[in-house]
Amino acid sequence: MITKTIDILYNNNDASDSDLISIINCSDTEYLFTKAVKRRKEYYGDKVFIRGLIEISNYCKNDCLYCGIRRSNITLDRYRLTKEGILACANEGYRLGFRTFVLQGGEDMYFSDDDVCSIVYAIKTAYPDCAVTLSIGEKTKASYKKYKDAGADRYLLRHETANASHYAKLHPSSMSLDTRKQCLWDLKELGFQVGSGFMVGSPYQTDSNIVEDLRFLQELCPDMIGIGPFLPHKDTPFKNEPSGSFLKCLNIIAILRLMFPYALIPSTTALATISPHGREQGVMAGANVVMPNLSPQDVRKLYSLYNNKAFSGSEAAEAIEILKKQMQSIGYRVVTDVGHVAK
Ligand code: 5AD
Repeated sequence: MITKTIDILYNNNDASDSDLISIINCSDTEYLFTKAVKRRKEYYGDKVFIRGLIEISNYCKNDCLYCGIRRSNITLDRYRLTKEGILACANEGYRLGFRTFVLQGGEDMYFSDDDVCSIVYAIKTAYPDCAVTLSIGEKTKASYKKYKDAGADRYLLRHETANASHYAKLHPSSMSLDTRKQCLWDLKELGFQVGSGFMVGSPYQTDSNIVEDLRFLQELCPDMIGIGPFLPHKDTPFKNEPSGSFLKCLNIIAILRLMFPYALIPSTTALATISPHGREQGVMAGANVVMPNLSPQDVRKLYSLYNNKAFSGSEAAEAIEILKKQMQSIGYRVVTDVGHVAK
């Protein structure tokens, strides 16, 4: 019985590989989500944390096969925000109630470490009660240290898959899982609150790959864990690959909540893109963070990781009132709070 298996996971924050695979694929999810929500409420009550996402650049030196902003995509109009532009987004975000800003971008070599530091420092100086999260890819430990010293609090870097041969099928040969993992260890050692995660249903992914992802996360003990469905982008080699399963994503969110009760788990934009009420359903499966878009309106469509990215309605930071109502309607409360991890 799947309920017995879920009880094992609930009681031990862990389960065997084969039990995890059964839960990943279970279709009677009511019991699973009830347990995940129970655990989530013990740690976070009815709070939903919000993060303002500022997409600072869609230039990228990498060529990840799944990603729409890969450098080989020559059809995409490229943009990067200026420091002033980024500060204007933060200013607007602060006014709207955001107390965490996530600066995300492709690996754009135009921004030197000094540029990144001066942006981080400016935000932290203007809004000392806010956290700054960076999500700008693989850098040297020395660079990460500079960002930390400039005031950056958190760093998001998904490992994407913890299986080296799967990693090689999703990335060009210039990239490696070892480098990705090393970056994550470096970030931890430097004292960042670290976020990692993976796509669900990426091409060639197997259920045992997902278990390997969960095992790697157990090793890493990240503060934040982001997952979402793989979604094809028309100008990538994976354009004809099927999307990841929405239900599988929800099951994995619930599993993550039970394995990592303290974690900050976003209900991601990809989840909201694949299903009309994906955002709410993610929260009802155990997620406790949402990251509305604070980027300037005209660049939102250009930060095109996958097709049909949701960027209007409650995805948009300026529509925070809609988001608040949505969360209220399912029994949760959006809070204006820096929203640190409950570790
Ligand atoms: N589908 C879903 N997620 C994607 N990402 C990149 N491309 C895609 C895609 N086609 C995710 C990656 C990356 C994060 C910023 O977005 O996991 O780490």
